Amino acid sequence: MSAADPATIETPVGYVDLNRVRANARRVADYAREHGFRWRPHIKTHKSLDVARIQLNAGAGGLTVATLREAEVMGSVCDDLLLAYPPVGRAKLDRLLSLPRTVDIKVALDGAEVLASLAAAASAAARNVGVLVELDVGLGRVGVQTPEQVVQLAAAAAENEGVSFRGILFYPGHIRMARQEQGALVRAVADRLRATLEALTAAELPAQIVSGGSTPTLWDSHLMPGLTEIRSGSCIYFDREALEVGVAGREDLAYTVLATVVSTAVPGHAVVDAGSKALAKEGRGGNGFGVLLDHPDVVVTSLSEEHGVLDLGGTRWQPSIGERVRIVPNHVCVSVNLQDALLARDENEHRMITLEARGRGPWIA
Ligand SMILES: Cc1ncc(COP(=O)(O)O)c(C=O)c1O
Repeated sequence: MSAADPATIETPVGYVDLNRVRANARRVADYAREHGFRWRPHIKTHKSLDVARIQLNAGAGGLTVATLREAEVMGSVCDDLLLAYPPVGRAKLDRLLSLPRTVDIKVALDGAEVLASLAAAASAAARNVGVLVELDVGLGRVGVQTPEQVVQLAAAAAENEGVSFRGILFYPGHIRMARQEQGALVRAVADRLRATLEALTAAELPAQIVSGGSTPTLWDSHLMPGLTEIRSGSCIYFDREALEVGVAGREDLAYTVLATVVSTAVPGHAVVDAGSKALAKEGRGGNGFGVLLDHPDVVVTSLSEEHGVLDLGGTRWQPSIGERVRIVPNHVCVSVNLQDALLARDENEHRMITLEARGRGPWIA
């Protein structure tokens, strides 16, 4: 008996279809190429060297990371990394500047203090780090607020030793509604982007890199002016959100959580062994935490740590104890992050794949 046999493997476990991963990677890379920009996938979704290699082979141009652990691991397969997260504090700066010198590092930031400490540390390490000024386009999470502030920070980056101004970055993470309802918000992002690029050009600080993109807006990225790359990440696997937004179909879903029915004692529902520690407790407007791949009328309505409750009110399916199900999580990235390893189907073989970039601190072996 192989440990990597979906019929017998202990559940819950993340289950990946590598044929679909390859198809998704090809489709996104081709779309980007067709529109004259690059795909720099955010690898926080998969945290796996195997999957990063598939993306690079499909034509991805560089990788995006959020943590220093991700940067260290992905630096072994790619020499063009973007840290889409401000590196604050000596510990993170030291790790950043210890990446191999062959790696062209770019960092997104939105404040003068972060820029100053990065420039000082990079200059002391005799390195040069590319700076992308992050612009808030509506999410209200991070990012400077006006084109004037972008120009100010870009000018500071251009003047400081240890750093170079390379361009701008934005993340339209507030656009998560159905694709056909996104138009006005996409146009508002495009307007803000246009004004910012004009201000940079007027200040003689042209942006070489304009980094944007998300999965809910993936197929409309070409509506953003001046874009040179998209960082869309969860499109490598897709998830329930992508289905509901309309950027993917069920045939594109490449990640599910394989789980086992463990109880049918309470009328009207069944319980599986995938709880919040396998699926992640990310809600979608009160509409549960995931849906069954093979029974789309069955939603995971509540979660305890190791229990997932399936609502049987809208289905004729009668699950039996020991039956295996595949759950499409609401948000794939946070579910993957909870797995020690993934069961992967590759052609008709199964094997385990490791998540080398999972975890954070330098204390991880
Ligand atoms: C800064 C940044 N860039 C890119 C992404 C990728 O977004 P998505 O998974 O929607 O493609 C994220 C996701 O959280 C992000 O925070």
